[in-house]
Amino acid sequence: MKEKSVLIQDQEFISNALKLRFHPITVTEGKGCYLFDENGRSFLDLTAGWAVANIGYGQESVAEKLKEQYIKLSFTTQLSAPSQTMTELAEKLIEMTPGDFSKKVWFGHSGSDANDLISKLVPAASGRPKMIAFMGAYHGQTMGALSLSGHSAQAKFEGKGNVIKLPYPNPYRPFSGISEHLTEQTIHFMNEVFSTICPPEETAGIIVEAIQSDGGVILPPDDFLAALRQICDQHGIYLIVDEVKVGMGRTGKWFSFEHSPIIPDAVVLGKSLGGGLPISAVIGRQEILDSVTAGHMFTASGNPLCTAAAIETIRIIEEKDLISQAEKNGQYFLEGLRSLQKKYPFIGEVRGKGLVLGVEIVTDRLEKKPDPVKTSAICYRAYELGLLIYYVGIHGNVLEITPPLTISREEITEALHLLDQTLQDVAAGHVDWEQVKQFSGWA
Ligand SMILES: Cc1ncc(COP(=O)(O)O)c(C=O)c1O
Repeated sequence: MKEKSVLIQDQEFISNALKLRFHPITVTEGKGCYLFDENGRSFLDLTAGWAVANIGYGQESVAEKLKEQYIKLSFTTQLSAPSQTMTELAEKLIEMTPGDFSKKVWFGHSGSDANDLISKLVPAASGRPKMIAFMGAYHGQTMGALSLSGHSAQAKFEGKGNVIKLPYPNPYRPFSGISEHLTEQTIHFMNEVFSTICPPEETAGIIVEAIQSDGGVILPPDDFLAALRQICDQHGIYLIVDEVKVGMGRTGKWFSFEHSPIIPDAVVLGKSLGGGLPISAVIGRQEILDSVTAGHMFTASGNPLCTAAAIETIRIIEEKDLISQAEKNGQYFLEGLRSLQKKYPFIGEVRGKGLVLGVEIVTDRLEKKPDPVKTSAICYRAYELGLLIYYVGIHGNVLEITPPLTISREEITEALHLLDQTLQDVAAGHVDWEQVKQFSGWA
């Protein structure tokens, strides 16, 4: 009953603007890969809270570091009185990020404010007004980040008019209907844009996700990022990669762009960087990061607690070798999902890299028509069976699997078993549609 009261209070007191709900869960505890509700029910979490809890829930050493840090220095505004945890973290991030050039780091609180920095500083640094971004991209909800985004979740507001959106090369749903030479098609489209509404000499930067996650776990062709890098080099345009969701080891490398032979001019981090505490960062060329003084400041940016948590999070990822685990366990998970695909004709495609995996739900495999209703029913039924999973995608029909990187083989086997049961139930019509309808998801 207590659980119900939280939901009622949530309905009464909490703004709908922050709600993205798939089932009626409330949580009181988290340990490892499991969340617990007020009745002690456990849920195997395949979401990591939208890819934040990469190191799992309740890592004791983070708690210790936080206590230590709070007692030593609970706060300083790094804008005016910097302290050592911020500079230490910055140095580490510079070391981790490829690129043999002078780099600097900016800190914020969320992926959105970090991408807002990109929207301000990249044009400022280059003296060019325009930016290029991609349809389906999710860069955040604040005005600059929203303007760079091409996701339906940002379509409720008008962004700034200086951003041109190109189709993202989606091999499963190619924008031209033709899946061959998808990178070339995209570059051809870009050249058309350059020769009409967005001259390259007026274009400051291109921002891209190396894997579009909220866009539907879309993996572009292998040569895509290299082609973008080449275009940028040709025209003196900055290339920015948003690693907020799939960075920090999730794909089997620190950063997902490292699967391609490119070096970005700036990299955007957030979500999992703080192991659950809010922190974002942009690591990039000094000329971009220093292009403005006192121009993108948040009082608590880089605060001692969040930076201490991030330093410890990185240490844990290194110590537990979570990056290679993500690669190996991701492969195991992918194979398990592919076996489920053979059983259920409404699974159109299974794809992913490391521990970011997508299961595309369609009416039937040949027609590929997205089935968002079935997708939301799957999320709901999974919740009833003790498995947490969300969906993404501009058509609202891709189950997104981004568990903590600490997930074990046994837990993956359990997740596959629960997912199998879920799919079987949904296929058999064992769905409480009245309940499902109450959770609007991304709508
Ligand atoms: C790739 C990417 N960039 C930026 C953001 C925005 O991050 P935040 O919600 O922390 O503002 C998200 C959030 O899902 C994201 O997936």
